[in-house]
Amino acid sequence: MSKRLADLDPATVPGVRGRLALDDFARLFGTPADAILPELKAEIAARDFRYVVLEGEMRDRTLLDVFQTIDSGTLSKAGSAGKARWDKGWSENLEAFVASGYDLKALVPKYIRPRQPVRLDQHYVLPVNPAFELDWYEIFRPWFLGTYLEPFDCVFEFGCGSGFNLAALAQCAPGRRYVGLDWAAPSAEIVNRMAKHFGWRMEGRVFDFFHPDATLDVPANSAFLSIGALEQTGRDWGAFLDFVLAKRPACVFHIEPILEWYDPANLVDYAAIRFHEVRDYWRGYPDRIAALARAGRAEIVKQKRSYFGSLFIEGYSQLIWRPLS
Ligand SMILES: C[S@@+](CC[C@H](N)C(=O)[O-])C[C@H]1O[C@@H](n2cnc3c(N)ncnc32)[C@H](O)[C@@H]1O
Repeated sequence: MSKRLADLDPATVPGVRGRLALDDFARLFGTPADAILPELKAEIAARDFRYVVLEGEMRDRTLLDVFQTIDSGTLSKAGSAGKARWDKGWSENLEAFVASGYDLKALVPKYIRPRQPVRLDQHYVLPVNPAFELDWYEIFRPWFLGTYLEPFDCVFEFGCGSGFNLAALAQCAPGRRYVGLDWAAPSAEIVNRMAKHFGWRMEGRVFDFFHPDATLDVPANSAFLSIGALEQTGRDWGAFLDFVLAKRPACVFHIEPILEWYDPANLVDYAAIRFHEVRDYWRGYPDRIAALARAGRAEIVKQKRSYFGSLFIEGYSQLIWRPLS
């Protein structure tokens, strides 16, 4: 992001002012408001979710900045060439985690960027709170995991990165078994160290979406989870999908950006489509799941566009499905 955007001061930016309230969260999550637990309702009320909708010149500046970034030729691409980048990133988190004496805050990934406009309901909005996106995620994640993962005995997170989602899960349900999988060895190392330090039933394993480990043991009543991870497979998610169909977990949960759910006639969405394309993020997967459902090989449980995301994409769309025999 350019300095111009980082310098925007929400107090002086003109535009309609708003604040995400309980009903907004319920709408964005695709759930009735009364299904959100009281402690999360209290967090929604306590945290600062105020924002200004960027309009006119401010919206133009944001769009210009976004398209200049897209066209800069500096964006890294998803796919096998990116492995060294992930190895390096997660080894930095591993080092910081150990150096901090196992402070879970050291696991927050650096790509959740503070102090920048975010996307909301097909607009750019400038948050008052620099940590708006992370705060939003800290409401979304316990809601999602608490709502959907409760019934399962074992949760496999594929592309688990720093392990901060697994840590959140284990803090709520420490008795359950967790497996964190990622192609970056430092990621598996973080998960194994967390397991040892906190006494969680958790193991880290090296796993590659492009060459899934067919020997992986998947117990009955397991859930498969991916969060912003399968996005990294471009058009090459087929081997992983075959693996899922063969292992037949009880349910599969994806929290990912979904290219097909944007509206190309909306400029803010179009910018997300271009970003998604330039980075070679995944495409085609929802259509394949829909085809499997038509063929009686899958049941689609939920499809919900997030209508919220970072400056560049909506990374929190929900696709939940079950493989059928
Ligand atoms: C954007 S990060 C998301 C990490 C984590 N799920 C989270 O929510 O913070 C993408 C993750 O996918 C992993 N990844 C990318 N390509 C992969 C592949 N081919 N096989 C396994 N993991 C992969 C990266 O190492 C990284 O941990």
